[in-house]
Amino acid sequence: MHDLQLERFYQTGETSNGLVMIPDGPIKTFTLRGIKDSPPYLHDGRLMTLADCVEFFNLVLGLNLTEQEKANLVAYMLAL
Ligand code: HEM
Repeated sequence: MHDLQLERFYQTGETSNGLVMIPDGPIKTFTLRGIKDSPPYLHDGRLMTLADCVEFFNLVLGLNLTEQEKANLVAYMLAL
């Protein structure tokens, strides 16, 4: 279980894309096996593609990934 603490990036009760933003709390970390076959991603289906997932974690975790590193991660997940 991990809490990504996304409430760091918004005010609780704020509306985004028509949804009210509230803290998610701890979420079960999904297996990535066969991940290419099960979009949309994250527990609430907020991310449409694996490239979106890489960019999401790049921003949330402050990774500063290069374009090559992001492409490598997507290619890796497509192979699982
Ligand atoms: C570049 C690094 C990462 C990549 C490419 C990545 C990839 C993914 C993907 C594709 C999903 C969606 C799985 C699904 O919908 O079935 C996911 C979910 C998740 N990952 Fe990662 N991940 C990364 C780093 C991390 C780290 C470091 C953590 C923990 C500290 C983490 C914890 C989680 C959690 C808790 C979820 C579920 C989130 C939710 O449903 O809201 N991930 N990850």
